[in-house]
Formats: sequence, structure tokens, C-alpha cells
Amino acid sequence: MKRILITGGAGFVGVNLVAHLSALGGYRISVLDDESLGERRYLEPFGARFMHGDIRDRKALDTALDGQEVVVHLAADTRVIDSIENPRRNFDVNVVGSYCLLEACRAHGVHRVVAASTGGAILGEVPAPVHEEMVACPLAPYGASKLAMEGYLSAFSAAYGMKCCALRFSNIYGPGSFHKGSVVAHFFKQILTAKELVVYGDGSQARDFLFVEDLVEGIRQAMGSDATGVFQLGSGRPTTINELLEIVRAVTNRPELPVRYAGFRAGEIHVTWCDIAKARSAFDFSPRTSLPDGMARTWEWFHTYYGKAAS
Ligand SMILES: NC(=O)c1ccc[n+]([C@@H]2O[C@H](COP(=O)([O-])OP(=O)(O)OC[C@H]3O[C@@H](n4cnc5c(N)ncnc54)[C@H](O)[C@@H]3O)[C@@H](O)[C@H]2O)c1
Repeated sequence: MKRILITGGAGFVGVNLVAHLSALGGYRISVLDDESLGERRYLEPFGARFMHGDIRDRKALDTALDGQEVVVHLAADTRVIDSIENPRRNFDVNVVGSYCLLEACRAHGVHRVVAASTGGAILGEVPAPVHEEMVACPLAPYGASKLAMEGYLSAFSAAYGMKCCALRFSNIYGPGSFHKGSVVAHFFKQILTAKELVVYGDGSQARDFLFVEDLVEGIRQAMGSDATGVFQLGSGRPTTINELLEIVRAVTNRPELPVRYAGFRAGEIHVTWCDIAKARSAFDFSPRTSLPDGMARTWEWFHTYYGKAAS
């Protein structure tokens, strides 16, 4: 049994990762989460050990890290807009928190750390497809905090012989994302609450949408490898917002779903999608879910979740 600690494991990606690993078997899973964004009740079906605590609290880390072999670090202040309004809080959780975790991992002899980073928010407006060799130019404190974390992962690998890697996630969608502000979650929530769908710009903006089940398999593959450095995890293809809307209309069975187009938002990246060749060659990352299939499963989950919450 591989002993693994997942920080932020009660959040969207974390719950999907716990579900995936427990279905595969062979892992003893612990989760450390302060429940600022996630909730432990979503972990109940999977028998993971849950510890309520903050990654900046050394006592909580000491308890959580005792006897672990691998850490998957997902805990973060994940809200980009909030990071613009409150950059200090974002810095504290994402930079200081990641540093505290690495320091404690080193003290406990936990050498394998796989951490969640981000694609678009780190690189800014650069020609797509984006790749790992591009010079980072974050547009918001959130991206800056992830870049700083990547720096410490690199330094702890080189200076202390640890094996740390950063996985730059693209736009992740899937079951369990009701609390998220991502475009897929936002569209589905607007539909469920009979509110208007607004697209800023003409809908030609493109993003790289990756189904969460493909992401968590990529995290598992990275965990099992010795890969260090930075790796992009995405679908490897662009989808425009207008193409996404067509899929939304199909999976929700609302062919006439109206959309209002408003002006482009200042500072928004127009087109970003990622080259996944490096992750493919380092740990065989190969996303399999088509966007229509992943979106259909996500809509089914949102529909059921909303129905239960409303009743
Ligand atoms: N979802 C995406 O599209 C996406 C894209 C790029 C990167 N990421 C990164 O992936 C990781 C997981 O994202 P997610 O979508 O599951 O986010 P999420 O907000 O659903 O989950 C984050 C979890 O971290 C916990 N947390 C926050 N601060 C903490 C602290 N100080 N101590 C302990 N726990 C704390 C929250 O309670 C929550 O359960 C994050 O690091 C995020 O930045 C996500």
C-alpha cells in the first residue's frame, strides 16, 4: 500500500483524485484540508483519513506527514479574481503555505511531491500552443503565487535531493465542480437557475478543456514517476467558447438556448491551449475523454446535484 497525503483533497480535483485512487486500490490515502473551499462530506464514500487543518500550521503538517511516502499538493487559494482583490491572502496560502509544506516534507523525509500549478495564469498572453519552455509572465497574483511555488519545488529538488514536480493544469471541468467559477461550471449553474448566459467578446476565445478524470489519471502517473520540473496537463487542443456553447446546448437538450454577447473583458487572454508532449513522454499522459462525453457526464452530475440541493 502506497501511503499518500493529499493537501486540499476535499476540493474539486482532490475528491476526484481520492475517488480514482480508491477505485484502483493500493493506496492508503490521507487528506489535509482546512475546508475553506472544500467539504469533507464528499470524501465519506471513499474511506480516506481526513484531517482538518491548514498547510501553514506546522503541527497539522507534522501529524499529516507522519509515515507518508508521497504528497500531492492541491491546497490553494484558487480564485483568480479574489487574488487581485486580496493578493496578500493569496500569497499567504499559496506561497507561504507551499513553502511550509516543502519544509515539513523535507523534515519528515517525504521526497516525492507532486504539486498543482496552472497554465494560462502563469504564462499570460503568448502564442498558442503554450509549452513549458516559455518565459512566465503572470497577469494576476494567483499566477505569480504558482510561479513562486514552482521556484521552491525546483530549489528543494536541487538543494535537498527531493523529487518535486509541478503540474500546470489547463481548464479542468467535471463532476464535483459546483463551487467553481470556471466557464463550464458557470454556464451549467446559469442554466439550472434559469439565468441568462453572457459571453464576453464574440465567443472566438479559445481554451483547453480537460476532463477531471483524465487529469487525476495524469496526477497518478506523475506520482508514480520520478519526473521533476514543470509539466503541462491539458487536452492538447483548443475549443472556442462558441464551440463549447454548441456542446452545452446538445448535452442540456436546449438547442435554442439564448446567449447574450457583451464586450470583451480587459486583460482576458484570447486564445490559450497547451502542448502536452512533455507529460506524454515523461509519464505517458494521454487524456482519453472527448469534450462532448465529458460535458454530458458533467451536466448529469450538475443536474442531479442541483436537484438534490433544491429538494
Ligand atoms: N480546477 C482548475 O481548473 C484548476 C486549474 C489550474 C490549477 N488548479 C489548481 O489545482 C488545485 C486544486 O484545484 P481545485 O479546482 O480542486 O480547487 P478547490 O478550490 O476546489 O480546492 C482547493 C482545496 O484546498 C483547500 N484549502 C485552501 N486553502 C487551504 C489551506 N490553507 N490549508 C489546507 N487546505 C486549504 C480548500 O478547502 C479546497 O478544498 C489548486 O492548487 C488549483 O490552484 C486548478
